[in-house]
Amino acid sequence: MFLTERERLRDELVELADRFGRSRGALLFILQEVQNRYYSISEYAMQVIADLLDIHPVEVHSVVSFYSFLNERPQGQFVIRLCRTITCDMAGKDQVARQLENDLGITFGQTTPDGKFSLEWAHCLGMCDQGPAMLVNQRVYTRVTPEKIHGILQECRQRFGVHAVADGKELPQ
Ligand code: FES
Repeated sequence: MFLTERERLRDELVELADRFGRSRGALLFILQEVQNRYYSISEYAMQVIADLLDIHPVEVHSVVSFYSFLNERPQGQFVIRLCRTITCDMAGKDQVARQLENDLGITFGQTTPDGKFSLEWAHCLGMCDQGPAMLVNQRVYTRVTPEKIHGILQECRQRFGVHAVADGKELPQ
């Protein structure tokens, strides 16, 4: 018997709910796991999670909207988040942002057409004394300069080889 995408997703969510617990306290853990696996959290996934945890879908929706690392729309395999809070702003985040946009050919809030990179703004990452600070998935980069951007992007691209791994997950080719 073939499972549809939705059935497969539902099975995964049931397994996650069993693993983390079917209570409100498990919500963030489940959402993070779904984000890691699918790079976004669909409307359908939010609905199923709400059912499994017996909470209102609006609650799930508001948690997804609140946290910048959770996304409703599909994200690239590498999500680059550049801090735009005051200290990083003063340390030169605009020049870094321009370099990222030039190198990737997209603006903040967009994903490259090949689905590899997304550019997002972030609020303070807690590395204010080493700004500009930037996150690539879960990895933090500090004292980022426009000159360093090319190397950082190259490092990401090299992880798209046959056995490429991002954050412990094999990337679909
Ligand atoms: S202001 Fe950018 S890390 Fe704090």
